[in-house]
Amino acid sequence: MNVLHVCANPKPTEESVSKQLAAAFFAKLIELKPEVELVNVNLYDEKPPFYSYELYKRAWYPVFDESYEPSKVEEMAMNYASKQAEMFNAADVLVLTMPMWNFTVPAIMKAWMDQILCPGLTFSISKEDGIKPLHKVKSIVLLVASGGIYKEDDERDALTRQVRSAFGFIGIDDLEIVWAEGQNPLFFDNAEENKIMAIEAASEIAEDVADMDFSEEEDDAE
Ligand SMILES: Cc1cc2nc3c(=O)[nH]c(=O)nc-3n(C[C@H](O)[C@H](O)[C@H](O)COP(=O)(O)O)c2cc1C
Repeated sequence: MNVLHVCANPKPTEESVSKQLAAAFFAKLIELKPEVELVNVNLYDEKPPFYSYELYKRAWYPVFDESYEPSKVEEMAMNYASKQAEMFNAADVLVLTMPMWNFTVPAIMKAWMDQILCPGLTFSISKEDGIKPLHKVKSIVLLVASGGIYKEDDERDALTRQVRSAFGFIGIDDLEIVWAEGQNPLFFDNAEENKIMAIEAASEIAEDVADMDFSEEEDDAE
């Protein structure tokens, strides 16, 4: 099983609840499945560029005009996206670790999504066939922490909607969410209790992921 872990949090683990969820998740997953091939991307070490006009041309002009020949500068504008998409396409499971910032994903995570959710890299798009995945990611685990508490379908929560819609667009519908909510101790006396519950949930989701069987896909690929 190949797992890609993308983390968008500048804090050290001891100060970050979402990173503590990730630590619990991976400790359990590796205990149960030591053979897991894990690739870690810390976005603060591998910062994505903001989407550029050159990347737009390189990615989208060929969709509408097959004969379009990108310039060298446009080719280079796709370097980050290509490298990240290669890791993404090799994964069976994607783990996303992040805080909620201003009701959605941190900007650095959005910038990464803008890079990899690119035609010709992680999906193909045509009038005849619509959207076709070029990846084999079957499942996403979202590890998130927030100061507030958001009930299911709370319209202020743009984070889970963002992740669900963006990856649903390229055919990934299985999204497991572990959410340490109510982490602002000024407003929630039970912040620590909420964190402990979420850490336990992260461990349980790791057990589910360890049980996932990707052998059929691997056989198909041989
Ligand atoms: C810039 C910033 C924006 C934030 N925006 C929100 C928000 O919109 N909603 C919320 O519930 N908490 C918000 N918080 C609180 C964090 O989500 C909370 O502290 C969480 O525990 C951070 O995760 P971490 O401990 O993994 O860093 C924000 C915190 C920061 C620093």
